[in-house]
Parts: sequence; C-alpha cells; structure tokens
Amino acid sequence: MRTIQIAEGIYDVGVNDWNIRDFHGYLTPQGTSYNAYLIIDEKIALIDTVKKDFSKQLLDNISNIIDPKKIDYVISNHTEMDHSGSLPYIMHNIGEDKPLYCSKMGQKNLSMHFKQAWNYHAVENGEELSLGKRQLTFLETRMLHWPDSMFTYEKTDKILFSSDAFGQHYAGYEKFDDQIDFDTIMQHSKKYYANILLLYANQVTKLLKTVTDMGLEFNIICPDHGVIWRKNPGSIIEAYAKWSKQPTEQKAVIIYDTMWQSTKLMSEYIAQGIASEGVTVRPMNLRTNHRSDIMTEILDSKAIIIGSPTLNNNIYPTVSDFLTYMKGLRPQKKLATCFGSYGWNGAAIKILNNELTSMKLNMIDENGLKIQYVPDESGLNECYEFGKKIAKAICSSE
Ligand code: FEO
Repeated sequence: MRTIQIAEGIYDVGVNDWNIRDFHGYLTPQGTSYNAYLIIDEKIALIDTVKKDFSKQLLDNISNIIDPKKIDYVISNHTEMDHSGSLPYIMHNIGEDKPLYCSKMGQKNLSMHFKQAWNYHAVENGEELSLGKRQLTFLETRMLHWPDSMFTYEKTDKILFSSDAFGQHYAGYEKFDDQIDFDTIMQHSKKYYANILLLYANQVTKLLKTVTDMGLEFNIICPDHGVIWRKNPGSIIEAYAKWSKQPTEQKAVIIYDTMWQSTKLMSEYIAQGIASEGVTVRPMNLRTNHRSDIMTEILDSKAIIIGSPTLNNNIYPTVSDFLTYMKGLRPQKKLATCFGSYGWNGAAIKILNNELTSMKLNMIDENGLKIQYVPDESGLNECYEFGKKIAKAICSSE
C-alpha cells in the first residue's frame, strides 16, 4: 500500500520504479518514480497514470482510497508512455466513457499511441474544470518537453501538477523535498534538467515569464517524477530560471576516450594547463563516465573539450555516441575545442572540429591539437600550453 496525502483530498497514487537504470539513454542510479495524482472533491479526478508495467499497482493505490469506478475525470498532462502507459488499463477499469482531458496535441498523440475512441475533451489554454470546491486550470506548455505537454493548476491550495517539469529521476518513500537532503535532490534535478530539458531552455524561460505575468503562485509543485516540492517550491523555480539561461561557471569539461593512453596523457596535461590559470576542470573518460553524468557537468561549464584518437580514419565509437547525445540536447553559449593522438592520419581532429562547429559552439582553436603516436616532453608541454589557452579563453569570455 502506498498512498500519500498532499493536501486535503489530494493524493499521490503513483509508483516507484526502483530498478530502472537506463531511462532512454539516461543513467538512473536511484531508479525513478511515476507520480499520479488523485483529487477527491464533489467530482473525482485522476491526473496522469504510470508506466504500463505498473498498471495494477496504480489501480491498487487508487483502490486504497476510493472505488476507482468513482473517478469522474482523467487528466493526461503528457502522452509519453511513462505517464500514459496505464491509460488503457485504467480506462477499462473505471469506465471507457469517462471524460479524458488533455491538450489538443494530447488527443492527437494519445489517439496515435492507443487507437482508442475514448471520450476525449481537448482543452484550450487557460480552460477551467470545476471539481466542486476545487477548480483546475489547464496551462499549455508545448515542447516542455513534448508538443502535447500541459500543466494542471489547482487554485485553492495553489498546487501545480507540472508533468515532467521540475522532476527528478529518484525513487523513494521520501516523497517531499523536506524529507530528503536538499543538495542531493537538487543534484538529481540538475541532472534531469541537463538531460531532459536543456534542449528546451528557451521554452522554459518563456514559461517562467508567462507564469510571472499571470501572477500565479505555487505552494506545492507536484511533478510526474521524484519528490514533491512543498517546503520550498521557489528553489526549483529559481534553479530552472538559472539553468535555462545556461549561465556558465569558469569551468571546462574534458571528455575523451583513449586507445593506447596517448590521448589520455594529453588530457592530463591539458587539464593541468587549465587548472594552472585558476579555472575548474573536470576530465571525464567516456569509459568510466556515463553520457548523462557528463551532460550534468556541461550544464554549468563554459567550455567543452573533446578528445579522441583516430581509429580507422574516424573518431572513437564512444566519442561518436557522446557527440550524438550532446548534439540532441543542444548546449549553447559554450566554448569548445578538441584534441587527440593519431598514427598516420589525424582524421579525428577534423571530424571533431566539424562536429563542434556544426553545433554552433564557439571554437577556441579551430585547429585543435593533435599529436602523432606518443607525446614526448615537447608534446606534453604543447598540451599544457593548449590548456592555458583554453583557460584564458574561458576567463575572457562573457
Ligand atoms: Fe516522464 Fe516525458 O515523460
């Protein structure tokens, strides 16, 4: 049994997914939760469901509070299947004719996912639904992070049901921000932002402005993953405002792989050169650091330095994997350059330069730094000086 009361008549009826470790390419060492919310008033509404595998658990959680058939409305804030996968099971058990509230794009996307002629009610932005004493307002949040995404706002207790936004991949019985170490949960939130929402930074900025303009206040923020913000909901709003501007610290991340340790050796001397100028540096070997943890470090870094040996006239497969992932998340306002060891063909440097340029990053050195075979003392000194050059570019950039 797992039901958690958030306010009078409002419950989290979601589930923990303790053992998931790969969430579409994102490493989730603490698992995640799929939160779903039940509001009991004169009318009863269920906001979101959970991943399909947990359908029965969701129904059991609801049954611990009410007879599921008493649910009057289902609200789908977001179609992605970690929140909609249980809809067919839930609709079957509560009555297929119950109104299903979603955005216009939500109706389209849910229809394409489930091919069901449910009783859709596609809402307009700002449309309201009365449950009795409580009023719900639907806020369109397109591309945060899907075209169908929306928020649901409860006026009386000023509760925002924020779908994926403000979440964290964190499974636990501690369900509120005051039940868990603040720094720990903010680190999970930062990783979540860097890997899910970074691409939509402009939409986050716009949304925060809209919310301010509307004068909306939040006492509680209920995301679809992780803990509920009730002690200090302002802290996650402030963090989103900061992250969405992509502010950067005087910091560089060196991301590399190595074949015969030469590129690794180069990374070490480049790192020393950067540090010698008082700039923070994080060397991250792709064999021991997950791409999603690297993106978390990149979020507040000013420079991205990529290293790859040349293998078969190309870059290393791990480097290619990382570039594909990073390119999708589109970090902005960053400096970049590259380096690597090679044998008889330094193709990797050219490829890396092209990749970084295509991402519209500001190139520190358009040639990068390549060294043939094993760097000697003079080569290592070159790496050190290259690091100093990177640090100076970081310090002189805005
Ligand atoms: Fe948690 Fe976009 O799904």
